[in-house]
Amino acid sequence: MAKLRVAAFTISLDGYGAGPNQTLEQPLGVGGESLHGWLVPTRTFQQMYGDGNGTTGVNDAFAVRSFENLGAWILGRNMFGPIRGEWPDDAWKGWWGDNPPYHTDVFVLTHHARAPIRMDGDTTFHFVTEGIHAALDRAKASAKGRDVRLGGGAATIRQYLSAGLIDELHVAISPVLLGSGEPLFSGIDLLKLGYRCVEHVQSPEATHVVLRK
Ligand SMILES: NC(=O)c1ccc[n+]([C@@H]2O[C@H](COP(=O)([O-])OP(=O)(O)OC[C@H]3O[C@@H](n4cnc5c(N)ncnc54)[C@H](OP(=O)(O)O)[C@@H]3O)[C@@H](O)[C@H]2O)c1
Repeated sequence: MAKLRVAAFTISLDGYGAGPNQTLEQPLGVGGESLHGWLVPTRTFQQMYGDGNGTTGVNDAFAVRSFENLGAWILGRNMFGPIRGEWPDDAWKGWWGDNPPYHTDVFVLTHHARAPIRMDGDTTFHFVTEGIHAALDRAKASAKGRDVRLGGGAATIRQYLSAGLIDELHVAISPVLLGSGEPLFSGIDLLKLGYRCVEHVQSPEATHVVLRK
């Protein structure tokens, strides 16, 4: 059965998925880069963005899992880029260069319509203005039986969580404090929504937890 999955989403000890004041210079907000100390050194990450040499072990195993059996992605508009409000033009095509690491259809939730953007490597960004259910329906249809990964950020995950639509969430908790920013779980009653922790594993850089309905 195809799932809606959050995977390799990192929060700080105080529960934030990004720091405050996201900008072009600081995509993850102030201090947010410190979240990914577990992910950046992994072989999986380095094969995508670095020299190909990286660590194996607990952190890399979760990174590998996060890319398995994916047929489509859903992102919030803030994860796609730093532009807010109306699109000034069609120049911004995401943070990830000509060949983004998705290689599927990617459905970007926004209130501001825009034509789809076809990238190298079979990634196409579609901009969905009809809300979370429409994005999920389109992503599932595109995924053809494979899983849909909900990439983030926190505001988008929170909506799918509150609607009880996420089947599985892997969250990495990094030992850093951000103080403020985009909270993932605050005000959401995960227990009432039917989630339970089915896996928890530690590495020196993060505590990994998997929640499932
Ligand atoms: N910690 C991690 O592992 C991780 C992973 C991914 C991303 N991030 C970071 O998270 C940050 C982004 O997260 P975020 O919580 O600020 O925002 P987000 O969830 O990426 O995007 C929120 C925006 O998406 C649009 N949107 C969301 N739901 C919508 C709906 N139902 N209908 C229409 N539009 C909708 C709205 O934009 P408009 O109204 O402007 O169109 C909204 O302001 C970035 O800093 C990113 O780098 C962190």
